[in-house]
Amino acid sequence: MDHLRLGVNIDHVATVRNARGSAYPDPVRAAKLAEEAGADGITAHLREDRRHITDTDIERLMEALSVPLNFEMAATEEMQRIALRHRPHAVCIVPEKREERTTEGGLEVAREENRLAHFIAPLAEAGCRVSIFIAADAAQIEAAHRIGAAVVELHTGAYCDFHAEGKVAERDAELARLREMSAFAHSLGLEVHAGHGLTYDTVGPVAAFPEVRELNIGHFLIGEAIFTGLQPAIAEMRRLMDAARPEA
Ligand code: PXP
Repeated sequence: MDHLRLGVNIDHVATVRNARGSAYPDPVRAAKLAEEAGADGITAHLREDRRHITDTDIERLMEALSVPLNFEMAATEEMQRIALRHRPHAVCIVPEKREERTTEGGLEVAREENRLAHFIAPLAEAGCRVSIFIAADAAQIEAAHRIGAAVVELHTGAYCDFHAEGKVAERDAELARLREMSAFAHSLGLEVHAGHGLTYDTVGPVAAFPEVRELNIGHFLIGEAIFTGLQPAIAEMRRLMDAARPEA
């Protein structure tokens, strides 16, 4: 099986920093530690309201990182301009509503196909690997394929929520859907990623999908770092991912 990449999302280091308006903890320092701990990439979401990562953080990450930056952004003109200025290795287009606590659902690609096709074309031309964050839904996957995305990132939030709530039947149904849709996206020639809400308890079954090439994990790792340190938290996540893919 291909190596499963781990992208570490450092947004919530910035959340803690911004809670006090101080200069620390520094998300760039966390990103460099994550690199040393074996992260294959760093993910950061520049939100419209800059509630965690800021424009300066993105500039500093672009300068400091040795591994690829996966720049998460909403499909707005402002974000497109910023992405085209920095040309990160990857951009992941996510839905963004000001009032939500986090990225709650996948992107509605099927209804916005035309606009999104025009939106991602210059990013792809600039050399960014374009990923679309969507629910595990065949219509959304087909639409992502039609607009020319290279990657789909499947939203694992519902699976993780069902697990946390002890709703085993719903969790297993969502996991089965994720597995089926990973295979479907792969059959269309899309690279398949997954993420949102993953923890030590939930990562294994998703890491075991042979078509999944990358997981993006943030909130749990940053929280766990309070107790164990960032590098041991990342190492443990890496170990669980590898254990789920014995042939890797
Ligand atoms: N993937 C995408 C597209 C996301 O928007 C997020 C959250 O920013 C993640 C992965 C990581 O989710 P979490 O922080 O819950 O691990």
